[in-house]
Amino acid sequence: MSEIRFFSGERIPLELHKVRVVQKLNLVPVERRVEAMREAGCNTFLLKNKDIYLDMLTDSGVNAMSDRQMAAMMVADDSYAGSATFTRLTDKLTELFGTEYFLPAHQGRAAENIIAMTYVKPGSIIPMNYHFTTTKAHITRLGGTVEELVSDEGVRIESSDPFKGNFDLERLEDLLKKEHGRIPFMRIEAGTNLIGGQPLSLSNIEEASDIAHRYGVLTVLDASLLQDNLYFIKTREEAARDLSLREITRRIADKMDIIYFSGRKLGFARGGGISIHDEEIYLKMRELVPMFEGFLTYGGMSVREMEAMAVGLEETMDMDVISQGPLFIECMTNELIAKGVPVVTPPGGLGCHLDATRFIPHVRQEEYPAGSLAAAVYIAGGIRGMERGTISEQREADGSEHLAAVELLRLALPRRVFTLSQVKYAVDRIAWLYGNRDLIGGLRFIEEPSSLRFFFGRLEPVSPWMERIEKAFRRDFGDSL
Ligand SMILES: Cc1ncc(COP(=O)(O)O)c(C=O)c1O
Repeated sequence: MSEIRFFSGERIPLELHKVRVVQKLNLVPVERRVEAMREAGCNTFLLKNKDIYLDMLTDSGVNAMSDRQMAAMMVADDSYAGSATFTRLTDKLTELFGTEYFLPAHQGRAAENIIAMTYVKPGSIIPMNYHFTTTKAHITRLGGTVEELVSDEGVRIESSDPFKGNFDLERLEDLLKKEHGRIPFMRIEAGTNLIGGQPLSLSNIEEASDIAHRYGVLTVLDASLLQDNLYFIKTREEAARDLSLREITRRIADKMDIIYFSGRKLGFARGGGISIHDEEIYLKMRELVPMFEGFLTYGGMSVREMEAMAVGLEETMDMDVISQGPLFIECMTNELIAKGVPVVTPPGGLGCHLDATRFIPHVRQEEYPAGSLAAAVYIAGGIRGMERGTISEQREADGSEHLAAVELLRLALPRRVFTLSQVKYAVDRIAWLYGNRDLIGGLRFIEEPSSLRFFFGRLEPVSPWMERIEKAFRRDFGDSL
């Protein structure tokens, strides 16, 4: 993907691939969208695909695969033990990360479970730039706590900081100085999921790991979103401009003791695992794999996905491949800004993020503005996003609400899946909704699971505001879908 300039001056991200397999989509009428949202308990996770036009819920496991990945799936070696596919995947990880050992897992959170079960005890503190939902759930389940040390810019919605995912190194050093005895490892999420796909710089990653190692603390990289972070290091960090993607990857990996990832994101397939340099660390975690995941040469993954992942990891070293996501996101973000819609800036990886706090300032945080906006965007355009705000948090031990630092609606752009006209459609419907934002109201829980409630909790509108949006839509769009 490269950004080109039209003769008119307009700049667009031009696809450097062609589409050879397509899937039919539905766009159901607005009346059905309101009904579907009610049936889903105002939770976009519970919508059915037949009711969705643009599925911008996530980039997880839904990226388009290349012809080479599909071809590789045909030569997968399907055996319980000793699979040649496993050897090919491990060799690719060794080539890219310089790690000798690989523990397969069925997806990223399974890798998190193995790491947490090995290292987290009651009273442990795990510093990180920012948490991810499943990461935090595993750590707190085992009696540990998460200490977020992202720089102040990280949670500022509008910023010109190119690396908002960076650690505040001073706070990191202070914490390690005081508490290193309770800190089994430090986690680096590159890039950050919950604060808008914002990256860390190579220099910040290197400095943060050096600090951790000075205090004898292990460094763990969550590389699930590494492909986007590599793109941003290459394009935004002066000192990395002349480094190849392979060199940047190796510089990061050399500083890590443990690297885990969701293969649903990194590698554009489905699965996950943990890469390790040191034999002792590998042996500490190894027996949890056959116990929870599957034998050591597949770990719960299909061998076909493992073959696709090995090729996908190689393709991650190609700027034409990894730039597509960030450039489409930048295009969508800039078009929304031009229409006055509040979004997270600078544009990050993974998706475009709407700022629900400024989109609907009249909805109190206790009535879940990001969740309300997710429901409203679906009604306006059949577009499914993901709430990344208070609903995605866990309640405090005393049952009180933990209000999120930011209330975002994430509109993920799975890689190489959508066209620019679909992106423009989404921008149009969101801008229309912004013009009618006063109609949007809040939500309240009617069924609230005690952990990871955002996945399957059910809510209802606090007033008939969804019907009000339906009426306004009909008024303005006539009988158009
Ligand atoms: C940064 C990050 N870490 C971990 C995970 C968990 O991975 P998985 O969904 O494969 O379990 C995700 C998934 O979205 C993620 O974005």
